[in-house]
Amino acid sequence: MQSKRSRLDQFLAKRLQQPKKAIRLILLAGRVQLDGVICKDMDRQIDEFTHICFDEKTLQNNRKQYYMLHKPVGVVSATIDDIHQTALSLLRGVDLDLMHIAGRLDLNSTGLLLITNDSKWSQALMAPETKVSKQYLVTLENPIDESYISAFNEGMYFDYEDSTTLPAQLIIVSDFQARVTLQEGKYHQIKRMFGRFRNPVVALHRESIGNLVLDKALVPGHFRHLTDSEINLTQT
Ligand code: URA
Repeated sequence: MQSKRSRLDQFLAKRLQQPKKAIRLILLAGRVQLDGVICKDMDRQIDEFTHICFDEKTLQNNRKQYYMLHKPVGVVSATIDDIHQTALSLLRGVDLDLMHIAGRLDLNSTGLLLITNDSKWSQALMAPETKVSKQYLVTLENPIDESYISAFNEGMYFDYEDSTTLPAQLIIVSDFQARVTLQEGKYHQIKRMFGRFRNPVVALHRESIGNLVLDKALVPGHFRHLTDSEINLTQT
């Protein structure tokens, strides 16, 4: 989701249903405050978190919100869906305006899902250049062996994207389980990588994104606010 930057005069014209000329006069009269300070500048850029008052009336007052959700199986990583329950619908009691998911999980995957209304934060987190690592616990149908480690590390070429995956770390946990760390998020990436070995993924659980770890106290379907330090962790 793009950060919602726009011009103050356009915002006011729409919100107050007044032509630009009238907005100019309103601004010059010092009737508009941005974050508590009078603003007379027509060209001023605002975003979704600029606190905007006209006379004594608040026109915009969005607070930044950040949540972690333990996504259960069968819930879709989307804001709306005709068939499946959505991850956003699990955030009961939360104002869902501008809320979006930072880094989707497949329908049958579980684990850490980050949801926010702060598009600058989610963009920085998910931008391919930032290469924030995501760690998954993967359960396979067939036993795995050492050959998987080098194949994941070397990268795999995918025709569909015409690109090779970045080196991925694979640690064998047991015969049927591996811990995989990716620095990117191609479509169904882990399933497709194990698909090269004709080894179907039985369960896929995201444990962490960057240094932000899924809270073990959260049962599937439950969520909580991120702490201030967790919000900053993802930017490291
Ligand atoms: N890779 C997948 O195949 N599915 C996910 O949900 C995440 C990573």
